[in-house]
Amino acid sequence: MNSAGMVVSSDGQEIEILVKDEGVRVGTIIKIDDSYGIIAHMGYREDERIGSKQKLLAKAQIFGRLEDGRLTKVKKPIEPYKDVLLPDDSELEILLASESNLSLGCVYGTKARAFLDPAEYDRHMAILASTGAGKSYTAANLIKEFASLSLPVILVDTHGEYQKLLSKAVGKEVDIEVYTVKHPRKGYKELKIPVSELETEDFTHFTSLNETQKSALSVILDRLDGSEYTLKEIIEGCNKLGEDAAHEETAKALRRRLTSLDRIFKGVFDKYGTDITALVKPYQVTIIDVSYAPQGVRQSVVSYISKELLQGRIRKENEMPNPIGYKLLFVVEEAHNYAGSRLPHSCNYQIQRIASEGRKFGIGLCVISQKPSKIDEEILSQCNTGMYMHITNPNDKEHIKRSFEAINEEIVRDLDSLDVGECIIAGAMSRIPFVMCKVDRIRVEKEKKELPRYEKPKKIEVSGFDYV
Ligand SMILES: Nc1ncnc2c1ncn2[C@@H]1O[C@H](COP(=O)(O)OP(=O)(O)OP(=O)(O)O)[C@@H](O)[C@H]1O
Ligand SMILES: [Mg+2]
Repeated sequence: MNSAGMVVSSDGQEIEILVKDEGVRVGTIIKIDDSYGIIAHMGYREDERIGSKQKLLAKAQIFGRLEDGRLTKVKKPIEPYKDVLLPDDSELEILLASESNLSLGCVYGTKARAFLDPAEYDRHMAILASTGAGKSYTAANLIKEFASLSLPVILVDTHGEYQKLLSKAVGKEVDIEVYTVKHPRKGYKELKIPVSELETEDFTHFTSLNETQKSALSVILDRLDGSEYTLKEIIEGCNKLGEDAAHEETAKALRRRLTSLDRIFKGVFDKYGTDITALVKPYQVTIIDVSYAPQGVRQSVVSYISKELLQGRIRKENEMPNPIGYKLLFVVEEAHNYAGSRLPHSCNYQIQRIASEGRKFGIGLCVISQKPSKIDEEILSQCNTGMYMHITNPNDKEHIKRSFEAINEEIVRDLDSLDVGECIIAGAMSRIPFVMCKVDRIRVEKEKKELPRYEKPKKIEVSGFDYV
């Protein structure tokens, strides 16, 4: 191994290196004697210790030594003037591997797989980056890896892009099921919400109701109990309730809300509905394609699914009927629309519940967003693995710093230097403080982007007038 540099100063777990090798960059894993570290920051500086002007220095974090395949903490500071070496690919893989592994790509600048520990999936994940940085590709790789390890995955697909991506990424052992919402498409199943299984409180996922309206709705639902009914029948129930003068105003207001619900959720509400427990299967990715639905419907569907997934797992834990028998990963694209810090919709609350209680019941959450600063801080801080890609917005960077313990200030500062597909992964799933990964490319056919060239419309002259 050639020397990649020399330690010039050392303080606790932090060292400074005079860099000699051109291949050293932020994220490079280094070795000094039997200790390993990672480059967290680089810059040119003048320094009397290194005898000449403007040399390339790197700050590195020492994270441990390998003992019988396990990483242990380094208790003594590294001695100055030691040689800094670059471990080879097989040594890197040993360093990163856990009992079972998944990987989204290679350690930056090497061919070593950037192994992560999939067992930590239930401590939740966040994929955060500016638009176009490669979030969806990263998420597709992550989903592929979990699904091929048999974990059922449920994915809310806001742009309708994952079927194409995943069908190129997953192997034969993984099935992809797509459910459309609101707008049926040939060859796909539709996700339906069963009205007769909704309780009064559930209706607040779809429309806002005050306490009097909720009690009136409870009365109507009690009267319909024991049968399968549609929203139309609940609306008729409002008419009946309104016959009693004492309830006339409430019944009217409730009817107005439910009628508008009926219009907006046409094709979504149904007598029987989709059994959410049946969406959760090993070796299956279930895509809920909400791309054709309006925002309010999307949020309500996310709210409903989140609640049902958690309830299904709670039923399993308590040995109740209709449980969800498998642990699962729930992935939410464009999470700022469903888990926004100032979002008054119930989907926010339901995702918060998964973020805080999901682990107990075997649900891992993965939120994906290009607007991290718009996501509820509570939810982000529950995501113990952060996957960060190119980010420039200072508010987003500030929000990330506040929400994640695992990431240090220097890494956040350098996030704008990342290229498309480059990802810094820090936190529970990574064995080392952070790993810089070049995410595998998924070879989907790209639509060629070009300006359309139209022919000029011909003018036809009829009795002295021009018509196009
Ligand atoms: N790992 C990768 N390697 C090579 N190219 C990539 C990689 N990831 C993404 N790209 C390229 O970048 C483009 C944008 O990627 P992607 O759709 O994943 O970005 P995004 O962050 O999800 O964007 P948006 O905010 O629009 O959802 C892709 O079409 C692809 O060409
Ligand atoms: Mg995307």
